[in-house]
Amino acid sequence: MRESCRRSLLLPFCTLFLSLSLSAATDTLAPGSPLSDGDTLVSADGTFALGFFSPDPSSKNRYVGIWYNKVSVPTYVWVANRNAPLAGLTGTLSLAANGTLVVKANGTSTVVWSSSPASSSAVGNNPVAQILDTGNFVIKDDNDAAASQLYAWQSFDHPTDTLLPGMKLGWNLTSGLNRNLTAWASLTDPSPSPYTLAMDVLGDPQIFLWSGSTSTWRSGPWNGFRFSGVPEMKTYSMFTFRFVRSRDEVYYTFGLKDPSIVSRLIVNQTGSTQRLVWLDQPKQWNVFWFAPKDQCDQVSPCGPMGVCDPNDSPICDCVQGFAPKNPTNWALRDGTGGCVRRTRLDCRNGTDGFVLVRETKLPDTSSSAVDTSLGLDQCRAKCLANCSCTAYASADVSGAGCIIWTTQLTDIRVWAFGGQDLYVRVAAADLSPTAEQSRHSGAVAIIVISVVLGTVFVALVACFVCKRRRRKRRVRFPPSVSLNNPYNYQGTDSNDLELPLFNLSTIVDATDNFSAKNKLGEGGFGPVFMGTLEDGQQIAVKRLAKTSVQGRTEFRNEMELIAKLQHRNLVRLLGCCIYGEEKMLVYEYMPNKSLDVFLFDRTKCTLLDWQTRYEIIMGIARGLLYLHQDSRFRIIHRDLKASNILLDKDMNPKISDFGIARIFGGDETEVNTRKVVGTYGYMSPEYAMDGVFSVKTDVFSFGVLVLEIISGKKNRGVFFAKADLNLLGYAWGLWKEGKSLDLVDDSMSPKYSTNEALRCVKVGLLCVQERPEDRPTMSSVVLMLGSESALLPEPKQPGFVSTRGPSSTARLQASR
Ligand SMILES: *[C@@H]1O[C@H](CO)[C@@H](O)[C@H](O)[C@H]1NC(C)=O
Ligand SMILES: *[C@@H]1O[C@H](CO)[C@@H](O)[C@H](O)[C@H]1NC(C)=O
Ligand SMILES: *[C@@H]1O[C@H](CO)[C@@H](O)[C@H](O)[C@H]1NC(C)=O
Ligand SMILES: *[C@@H]1O[C@H](CO)[C@@H](O)[C@H](O)[C@H]1NC(C)=O
Ligand SMILES: *[C@@H]1O[C@H](CO)[C@@H](O)[C@H](O)[C@H]1NC(C)=O
Ligand SMILES: *[C@@H]1O[C@H](CO)[C@@H](O)[C@H](O)[C@H]1NC(C)=O
Ligand SMILES: *[C@@H]1O[C@H](CO)[C@@H](O)[C@H](O)[C@H]1NC(C)=O
Repeated sequence: MRESCRRSLLLPFCTLFLSLSLSAATDTLAPGSPLSDGDTLVSADGTFALGFFSPDPSSKNRYVGIWYNKVSVPTYVWVANRNAPLAGLTGTLSLAANGTLVVKANGTSTVVWSSSPASSSAVGNNPVAQILDTGNFVIKDDNDAAASQLYAWQSFDHPTDTLLPGMKLGWNLTSGLNRNLTAWASLTDPSPSPYTLAMDVLGDPQIFLWSGSTSTWRSGPWNGFRFSGVPEMKTYSMFTFRFVRSRDEVYYTFGLKDPSIVSRLIVNQTGSTQRLVWLDQPKQWNVFWFAPKDQCDQVSPCGPMGVCDPNDSPICDCVQGFAPKNPTNWALRDGTGGCVRRTRLDCRNGTDGFVLVRETKLPDTSSSAVDTSLGLDQCRAKCLANCSCTAYASADVSGAGCIIWTTQLTDIRVWAFGGQDLYVRVAAADLSPTAEQSRHSGAVAIIVISVVLGTVFVALVACFVCKRRRRKRRVRFPPSVSLNNPYNYQGTDSNDLELPLFNLSTIVDATDNFSAKNKLGEGGFGPVFMGTLEDGQQIAVKRLAKTSVQGRTEFRNEMELIAKLQHRNLVRLLGCCIYGEEKMLVYEYMPNKSLDVFLFDRTKCTLLDWQTRYEIIMGIARGLLYLHQDSRFRIIHRDLKASNILLDKDMNPKISDFGIARIFGGDETEVNTRKVVGTYGYMSPEYAMDGVFSVKTDVFSFGVLVLEIISGKKNRGVFFAKADLNLLGYAWGLWKEGKSLDLVDDSMSPKYSTNEALRCVKVGLLCVQERPEDRPTMSSVVLMLGSESALLPEPKQPGFVSTRGPSSTARLQASR
């Protein structure tokens, strides 16, 4: 309609027509019919629009750009003439017959912007420009009926500050095209600022954020699943991330699993990179993720061979075997000088070894070498064989590939969780465990069993001791005495530990050779597979990422304890399997996966009626009570959360993942730790802030869990009406107004006991009280939940009612 209109001479009517025809806007631009100022091209599904705009109404500068057509806040995702605005003039955008886009001031022939020359072969005789539903503005041959992906030119190849789904951030190595994002100079000025997010293809490729010529953030290399420096990516289930490294291309791109979500990655005017998602209610962009976040996100705050840990104070530490290069500055909290070797390497004599730094963001890989064909053992051998090798690591978190560094290691940081193992070469003298101890001496005042007690690890040791034998052969351990422990659990009775052993071939058969279709997920220690034994019994197999087995004797007593923990609300270990490097644990299989799978899924949560939810709450309470009181030792789980509650076929809850549980000595009640481990959102204030934990830490997590079970909402990650309120704040608000029943998940059938629900809310709130001493013990909780008439105290304001504060949702775990 517009085309015919333009050719007509009836200008007054034409204007009328134009304004009426906007809804029927076209998405293509052909030579000879330019787009004039005020008109827009709209993609076929109406998602994106292209036209002239002024970001700053007061300056009258005009730009050609692309924006979201359905998002009510003007959001420009691409600007053609960011460097050459039309000042105070209107403009036209036209497609030349040779397939070049040209922006001119209206009525003049001066070209203020043109697209780079199109390759004539791709344009053909009949070029058109089209705005696609992806937001890509492309020039193509209209006669090419197959609508081949071969575009003569595309805006996706010339990004502004925004990466949309499907756009590539990175290089075409053949043509030298480098697609990077550069922030706007200000909110009203799209001209380029010094802040750029770009792919660096040197060594193992990484993304860098630049401020001029200074790098301000580094993504770390791609580890097969995510960037080494962005462990949060692991938890982002609504996105798909892809990293492509081929001879022709190196790029990163993302997609959305749910097409109704609107999300973009940008570099903003103050030099941060942000992932934003559009919230329909309230109508605004929400910051989903951003970087840099903390001091350790700066590039190499602790210098060469220094390790940055934001949860430690001071944040800088040296890798074991290294000492601060400039102790004076180091003491004054300037770590940039880094660390130097205590003992020179002794390469020729072949006595060097490696210290393992866990949960790291791998050091800068710009000058490292990657060999994807080598496994970790070969990688180690290769490093030892080359005297200039300083460290090695797996290129892929699945254990494949080999990265070797031959320079100083810079910008190492550790994550609470989700990092990678890094092996740093040191002289034999620096390998001794005493070196490690002296580094941390004096930190922990109260004596606790300083060993993280994990079912996993502990049972592994059991396996290790028993070595591989016939399937399901039972192994007997004599009652043993701990040699190195301050606590000597002489209390163990004379029953020998019986831990069934599985043959590797049995496990391989059961899991169909660890086939991908049998993979249930990724646990803290490695992938988990489902399997079926010959006799039909279903099992879950946790296959450990290769872990060094240290301190066998120290673990032995604890191992005996944990293998004996048995309760219907704790997940059961069936046995283990060990074969050379392969170490696996075999658990009973939980057909209904974990609680979060049901609770936070809008369809599945309808399967959880009130009775089921109530039983789940009671079951968790009983399991926890057993850990805290009824088992022979006081055990603090420390990572109670919905994903650690597994459900059997009858929806009975079973507490799992004792990876970071701690055992308490007989008369201790409270312990201080330097390393806070657990999951934000479930962590009590005193633990998250001061590292003090006790049974009341678990009570707090339990309270959060109860409120989540009742409401079907996550404590974190979901935002409640008033800004910054988390679930605790929201529940507390409703409680004060006497509207607690509003909290109850409305997907639940209307039939539920209001009495029970109110009691659960109240108990939940009591459990999340700010002060540990105000929280009930698990035995009171079980009583309060179970009795109709118990008189419950009135809750006070909970701790952590706002979503502000620690910003990571990742599980935090001891780093070194
Ligand atoms: C463009 O220029 C023509 C003639 O010079 C004028 O008639 C028309 O109104 C102008 N268009 C805009 C959008 O300014
Ligand atoms: C294509 O045509 C435009 C406008 O006529 C001209 O400015 C440009 O130089 C041409 N490009 C090529 C590659 O011929
Ligand atoms: C990269 O550039 C080359 C040369 O321009 C081109 O032939 C090739 O198709 C491009 N690769 C991709 C994946 O676009
Ligand atoms: C970003 O891309 C542009 C254009 O390809 C290039 O000139 C510039 O050097 C790149 N910047 C960085 C930091 O890679
Ligand atoms: C840029 O992003 C950071 C991190 O999200 C934020 O703190 C800052 O306010 C943003 N700057 C602007 C101008 O929006
Ligand atoms: C190898 O070991 C011997 C004996 O310990 C020592 O004297 C020699 O210096 C070592 N070689 C190197 C290259 O350090
Ligand atoms: C050691 O590694 C460096 C860097 O990869 C390489 O240049 C050198 O040739 C290697 N030396 C030996 C002896 O393999």
